[in-house]
Amino acid sequence: MSDAALDVVEFLLTTSVYSDDRTLDENDLPPSFRRVYWTGGVDNDSDDGDGRKHAGISRPLSATNSTAREATGVNQPWEAVSELMFTDRDEFSGTITLVQEAMAEQWFAERVDDDRLRENPTLAKHFTTHEEFVDMFDVTHEEAREQNRPIQADRVWIDGLLEEYFDEEDDEEMLDLVEVRAPEEVDMSLDELVLTDDQENELDKIAKAIEHRDYLANIGLREIGKLLFVGPPGTGKTSTAQALAQDMDLPFVEVKLSMITSQYLGETAKNVDKTFEVAKRLSPCILFIDEFDFVAKTRRSDEHAALKRAVNTLLKSIDNISLIDDDVLLIGATNHPDQLDDAAWRRFDEIINFPKPDHGMRADILGVITRTMDIEEFDPQLIAEVTQGLTGSDLRMVLREAVLEALTEDRMTLTQQDLLNAVEEFEERDTLKNMDMMGGDHDALVAGGDLGSDGSGHSHDHDHDHDHDHDHDHDHSH
Ligand SMILES: Nc1ncnc2c1ncn2[C@@H]1O[C@H](COP(=O)(O)OP(=O)(O)O)[C@@H](O)[C@H]1O
Ligand SMILES: [Mg+2]
Repeated sequence: MSDAALDVVEFLLTTSVYSDDRTLDENDLPPSFRRVYWTGGVDNDSDDGDGRKHAGISRPLSATNSTAREATGVNQPWEAVSELMFTDRDEFSGTITLVQEAMAEQWFAERVDDDRLRENPTLAKHFTTHEEFVDMFDVTHEEAREQNRPIQADRVWIDGLLEEYFDEEDDEEMLDLVEVRAPEEVDMSLDELVLTDDQENELDKIAKAIEHRDYLANIGLREIGKLLFVGPPGTGKTSTAQALAQDMDLPFVEVKLSMITSQYLGETAKNVDKTFEVAKRLSPCILFIDEFDFVAKTRRSDEHAALKRAVNTLLKSIDNISLIDDDVLLIGATNHPDQLDDAAWRRFDEIINFPKPDHGMRADILGVITRTMDIEEFDPQLIAEVTQGLTGSDLRMVLREAVLEALTEDRMTLTQQDLLNAVEEFEERDTLKNMDMMGGDHDALVAGGDLGSDGSGHSHDHDHDHDHDHDHDHDHSH
């Protein structure tokens, strides 16, 4: 029997059990199933007047060819199960049903193992509370729920919430200022990052604090959960914040402060307020504020009053948000700690240093970056020796250069010499870039937080800082 049949029967059983058992909620459905049934946000047919309704899943869940396809990824769901004796399909509505539910359960129970059942809390509950199946599995409903990704981590949930909360005309302005990513969309994980002991300790500490925030609230310890990541561009600040979101299954809300200077200045204070409101509604979540030095710079300089107001709103909002009360972990990041004033420093309870990697870290980072590459005579220790002063981001660039260079010779296996050449190439480019900088307006060029690619004329990275650089250029051209 094909896996496709098992997938589809699991889906049919799940929709049926979920429809009948009202004690189950969306966290009992596997993410790929509930995505199909999640409705939320704006709905013009709703009766509560303002065209919005609460996001959620309504019973009964009906299974059709198209919902089954979307949920299981099986191309021809009905074909996959039509041979089975307990399935039926209504030609008119396209609904697929289990006409002999008991037979379907038996069939499924004989084919599913503990690990798979543990990924479906709805069925884990069903099969471990029905006498005829109890002895077949060593699984509990609780552990299945525990293991299932929470609904708050799903893109559909986030979209539903945002739609519920924002008018369409707000959207455009908000999207410039804040970006919300579901953990499922973050492709950065902690095991791809090489961290210092110090960083690991701090992150462990915060993870524990999050886990035990009820306890912290009870003993009245509230000044916790605001971190500032400090260090040169390309040392992993943004990546670490994202990896934390992924690791802890939390939505990642990123505020782009440079966007505060956009053309919507009059609206900015309001939008800053809304950003924090979004974070509170999405909680538990991580609120990441990059380029935090921007705040201090603005307060010091003789800026537009509206801009000052926006920044003051931001500071006040930071004061009013809390990990303990709102379940929002705030992470600020800056490449220019020297530019932060007391008012900015004071707002963070932990400062985490992101230094340029030392020899050992560089070797480890090289190891991580090259994990899936084929390199002859690879000696990461030696490459680490000749790359003093380079950041993790620089090392990535070096490796990419080496890969592309080899591809020009149609080679997919690199050699140690390719890497050495790429390092040399990188150093040359770096020298050029620095020469370019000496004549220019330094501040204007680094406003995005990274010396980045702008000076060199190459587009050589698509990481965060470079994105900001692009945003910035865009800004100036308005
Ligand atoms: N310590 C590190 N370990 C692994 N990769 C790193 C490290 N530091 C930087 N990188 C890589 O460099 C790139 C840029 O890092 P990023 O997090 O954007 O730096 P920052 O925000 O500090 O400027 C990312 O692709 C990241 O994976
Ligand atoms: Mg960054």
